Amino acid sequence: MTMNQNKMNKKVGIGRVLIAPSLLSANFACLREDIKEVEAAGCRVLHLDVMDGHFVPNLTIGPVVIESIRRVTDLYLDVHLMIEEPGRYLKAFVDSGSDGITIHQEIEADCFEILKDIRKMGVDAGISLRPGNEVDKIEPFLDLLDRILIMSVEPGFGGQSFIPGSEEKIAAARRLADRVDREIIVAIDGGINIETAPIVALAGATEIIAGSAVFKGSIGENITALRESVTGVGSA
Ligand code: DX5
Ligand code: ZN
Repeated sequence: MTMNQNKMNKKVGIGRVLIAPSLLSANFACLREDIKEVEAAGCRVLHLDVMDGHFVPNLTIGPVVIESIRRVTDLYLDVHLMIEEPGRYLKAFVDSGSDGITIHQEIEADCFEILKDIRKMGVDAGISLRPGNEVDKIEPFLDLLDRILIMSVEPGFGGQSFIPGSEEKIAAARRLADRVDREIIVAIDGGINIETAPIVALAGATEIIAGSAVFKGSIGENITALRESVTGVGSA
């Protein structure tokens, strides 16, 4: 095992492709039931999208909802902050039970300081890039990262189509991640389904985030189909 074991390693292990259902497409009137179905399907990570109506043109959940989710599940909570001022709410997100917190490189604030603070609070630190942003922008933060999250749609809404070529950004992120002597999760988010999942797994993604492809229809069957689509591909 490498020098710095991140929380993901400790909690769910690593070394194969993880399916991380994005709760954004779940039924918010019965979150508990949907989460239990995700657990029953053998997933170990739950992706939670936080939006502030500024960084992205949509509003979703905050620490209050995450705290309630924490009370009903032991899943690793992978919190994706699409907000302009993550620094201001960091403690609230940590206290609510987040296991990993990912911020966006494009925010005005000092990502370096925020990532350092996330790690200091004992939570996995991640950085995400909008589709138009370059993977090189992540390089200065490499020593502080547990997760690189590549967006394969414009952040803000579920149910959009995968932007072709995003797999090249995954490959570039994988090359960066492999430069450090510890595990950095390379995650992909947006438009992931049974057609696109194997493409990104082959390119080096180790966390596959999927919202509509999981929660539309049978959650269990959808997760099984996604898992089968990446079995034998990449590190799956
Ligand atoms: C979009 C969110 C995603 C979203 C993905 O901004 O970050 O996590 O839920 O949804 P699908 O899988 O439907 O593209
Ligand atoms: Zn997300």
